[in-house]
Amino acid sequence: MEVVGIGLVGYGTVGSGVGRLLSEGVDEIRLATGKDVILRTVCELSPERQALVPPGVRLTTDFADLVNDPAIDVVIELIGGIEPARTIQLAALKAGKAVVTANKQLLSQHGAELLQAAEDAGTYLRFEASSVGAVPVIKVLRESLTAARVTGVMGIVNGTTNYILSAMAQTGAEYAPTLKKAQELGYAEADPTEDVSGKDAAAKMAILSSLAFHSRVTLADVEHEGIEAITDVDVTRGAELGLTPKLLGVAKLIDGRVNVRVYPCFIPAEHPLAGVSGAYNAVFLESDSFDKIMLFGPGAGGTPTASAVLGDVISIVNTAPGGYIRNCTCYKQLGFYPSAEVVSRFYMRVQVADEPGVLAAIAGVFGDEGVSIHSMQQIGEEDSAQLVLVLHPVREAAFFSALARIEALPVVRSRPSVIRLEGDDGR
Ligand SMILES: NC(=O)c1ccc[n+]([C@@H]2O[C@H](COP(=O)([O-])OP(=O)(O)OC[C@H]3O[C@@H](n4cnc5c(N)ncnc54)[C@H](OP(=O)(O)O)[C@@H]3O)[C@@H](O)[C@H]2O)c1
Repeated sequence: MEVVGIGLVGYGTVGSGVGRLLSEGVDEIRLATGKDVILRTVCELSPERQALVPPGVRLTTDFADLVNDPAIDVVIELIGGIEPARTIQLAALKAGKAVVTANKQLLSQHGAELLQAAEDAGTYLRFEASSVGAVPVIKVLRESLTAARVTGVMGIVNGTTNYILSAMAQTGAEYAPTLKKAQELGYAEADPTEDVSGKDAAAKMAILSSLAFHSRVTLADVEHEGIEAITDVDVTRGAELGLTPKLLGVAKLIDGRVNVRVYPCFIPAEHPLAGVSGAYNAVFLESDSFDKIMLFGPGAGGTPTASAVLGDVISIVNTAPGGYIRNCTCYKQLGFYPSAEVVSRFYMRVQVADEPGVLAAIAGVFGDEGVSIHSMQQIGEEDSAQLVLVLHPVREAAFFSALARIEALPVVRSRPSVIRLEGDDGR
């Protein structure tokens, strides 16, 4: 029986899950692949994590012990971050090892360099677990949809923000206490910045859009806004309009150019993504050839992510050298479509003086800038009123130009809340 040797760098949440699944699944993997896939060496720095490594597996703190070991065929990097993960992956690829990783930060910033190194060495770099955890969206984009022309990727790709927004919508609570609760329950990190700022989602969208459009998109190319400014009042007003708040990654192919962004938005309550609540993730793909596909499941967690890592290991194990889809599928260099030219729909809520002429002033500014109002609701308060507007599709440059003028009107008493609308239902 042929033996495939595995070297694992990082025995943390995901790494220890890989170790466990590999040992529990050894018989199934042998039956499926005809090979013994054996965890030979773990490289781990933390003494507490080292204590979890099963007996019989060699333990080291020097990754060179894996990279230079001829009995290791596949190196799994699960330490995260840019360095030393980049150096470890490049060294392993150069040594002819296949590499499997879940490292979205690294892939979204140095993907081209790493994939080229794999190609140069005639080996494989696989990264299914880097985006949307256990959901096999990368395999679907890389393999199943190779010949389809994907024109849009819209996804809930961060479980922390989805948990927070779902909880705000269900309880009516404000953002700060909801974040605190999410931290207590383990859905948010002690430092939640990467998640709530949209940066984690942006890294995943860079990876997914590169695959979808066959054109390199890096983290720096993805504009991102977080959920910190979403208020309970807007969530309530949205619900009154039949809208659900989500942090979405939105990648579009427009006139042969690419626009990839992450922003909080409202989607119609009946849209399939609206039902994806809590810490779940989902990705909605659009194409002229297949219309719409939605993939849904857990986006994080040690065991779900480890199962995606093992899926990559098994497809490498059963791949004859050179007999597989190329490492890098970015065979086009598309330009970027400027966000200011994207046509979007907006919700806007603003506090105004309750006096004659206010509506005319606001409608006048929108009219000047060519922005057309779909619906407007006025909610009276003591000496002021809240206006809740939903706008027809508009070039973003025109909307933001109107917004700057509206903010400067003397009758406007608060900074307007602005949330995009996604999920086309003609509202
Ligand atoms: N956790 C999830 O749900 C999830 C989901 C999707 C993707 N991912 C990705 O999976 C990867 C691993 O995440 P994780 O949650 O498992 O992280 P983790 O729990 O922090 O585990 C990483 C482990 O690697 C060790 N380590 C750090 N630098 C090392 C080095 N140079 N050599 C050897 N060991 C080293 C760390 O030890 P110290 O603690 O001593 O630094 C830690 O024990 C990341 O790229 C992450 O983005 C995670």
